[in-house]
Amino acid sequence: MIIHLESVSSTMDAARSLLPQKPEDGTAVYADYQEQGRGRVQGRRWDSPKGESLLATFLFKTESIAFPLSSFPLYAGYVTARCLKRLYGIECQVKWPNDVLVDGAKISGTYCECIDDYISCGIGINLLQEHFPSHRRKACSVKSVSGKGADREELLKEIVKEFITNLKNSNWIKDFQSILYKNGKILTVLEGLADSGTSVTGTLMGIGEYGQMLIQTSDGTIKEIFTGEIQ
Ligand code: BTN
Repeated sequence: MIIHLESVSSTMDAARSLLPQKPEDGTAVYADYQEQGRGRVQGRRWDSPKGESLLATFLFKTESIAFPLSSFPLYAGYVTARCLKRLYGIECQVKWPNDVLVDGAKISGTYCECIDDYISCGIGINLLQEHFPSHRRKACSVKSVSGKGADREELLKEIVKEFITNLKNSNWIKDFQSILYKNGKILTVLEGLADSGTSVTGTLMGIGEYGQMLIQTSDGTIKEIFTGEIQ
């Protein structure tokens, strides 16, 4: 089932209101505009001019998912990257834990909430924007990268199909390593919560099955990072 709404506080809230009806896997809610789009970092809003982005939330029963739920935000990034490549030829990388980038500029972000026996997965994809506010970190859109517009409903349906394809296995995580931003490179991560994190520097050695970053530090040990932010 796909539900289209003109204006909502957040598609996360609109999707949540469907849960008592026990929606089927891949049920999606999308909106032209969100008054209070939210993202992974508390207090940082996801703003987009009306009709210029795909703003959608997808629902899946947790029992349908064959891999650890903690890796779902990365799975959503993987799904988004594959669809943008297939439909528009755009090569993306996924920056741990939830950004989809094109040449280092953010085209999409994912945000997941677990509610009862469902995972609610929000995805915002910049589609038609040609100019971005200067205070924002480097951003891009399907149009600014490919020169072409994008049909929101076509993209949404492709995403639902792609989500369902690998839900029942964890093979995607092997394939994912090749689109992982800075994989094999040296980076610094602020581990833990933004205001109390400690800094870790090392070589990114991929992602583990729980979605954790594997970082080899200078003494050769592998450090597993479950929450934090790449600097
Ligand atoms: C991030 O970059 O932190 C993730 C942003 C996710 C934004 C999407 S837009 C559709 C859905 N509704 C929301 O309120 N957030 C997600």
